[in-house]
Amino acid sequence: MPADALLEVRGVSCGYGETTIVRNAELTVGAGETLCLVGPNGHGKSTLLRAITGLLPLSAGEVRFGGERIDGRAAEQLTELGIVHIPQGDHLFPDLTVEENLLMGAFPKGAWKDRGTALDEVFARFPKLKDRRRQRARTLSGGERRMVAIGRGLMRQPRLLVIDEPSLGLAPVIVESVYEIIAGVAAQRTTSILLVEENFTHVEEVADRVSVLEMGRIVRTGLPAELADDAAVTQSYLGALPS
Ligand SMILES: Nc1ncnc2c1ncn2[C@@H]1O[C@H](COP(=O)(O)OP(=O)(O)OP(=O)(O)O)[C@@H](O)[C@H]1O
Ligand SMILES: [Mg+2]
Repeated sequence: MPADALLEVRGVSCGYGETTIVRNAELTVGAGETLCLVGPNGHGKSTLLRAITGLLPLSAGEVRFGGERIDGRAAEQLTELGIVHIPQGDHLFPDLTVEENLLMGAFPKGAWKDRGTALDEVFARFPKLKDRRRQRARTLSGGERRMVAIGRGLMRQPRLLVIDEPSLGLAPVIVESVYEIIAGVAAQRTTSILLVEENFTHVEEVADRVSVLEMGRIVRTGLPAELADDAAVTQSYLGALPS
């Protein structure tokens, strides 16, 4: 566990109505660290992310950010603290242009004045988006839409970026470019990343540590190499690795 934890999730349980989905989850993300949470479909990965980013109330436990208790606060307040959640699926404004969609990421209090610099940085990271800045989001390819969704998250210059299944529905070659971008952000060590994927193979290269969530419980946390070496974990939760 990193000594300088930015995000601490302690004994968190949450769910919908009477149904508890996530039980007693424990995780930490250090300053500048990338933690990847993997696990099968429907086992509660997105639910846990929603609880962390203020979209879902906790039924037990606590969440701390920079040492401060943040559970119970509204999602907008957490955005102001520098926590940005890029949800599963792209959720763009289809009739707005690429640039207008990106600027939406700079709306929360405090970020608007720096929008010009933030936009330049996003365009430097995604040169293709610069070429398409005036194109409406609805006319973009799936890969381009995913890039806009990630770029919009980066516009806020987050302290913690929470990304839910960035590979979802994309062709392998596009997944590779998405992960190159994420690896670039991770390597700067100025933004901590909490990333969810179903599949271990995608996250192996960007993760400092990996947690496995199964049936609403975090069953294992370790270095990517430790998890890859554990054949039982690999086969049960992560899918077969290439030999
Ligand atoms: N808004 C909701 N209301 C009620 N139940 C929900 C809601 N959202 C999710 N669930 C249920 O919670 C469980 C966990 O869903 P969740 O979306 O967290 O899984 P996941 O691990 O992110 O799966 P995937 O890999 O398919 O995205 C599922 O059984 C799902 O049906
Ligand atoms: Mg999900």
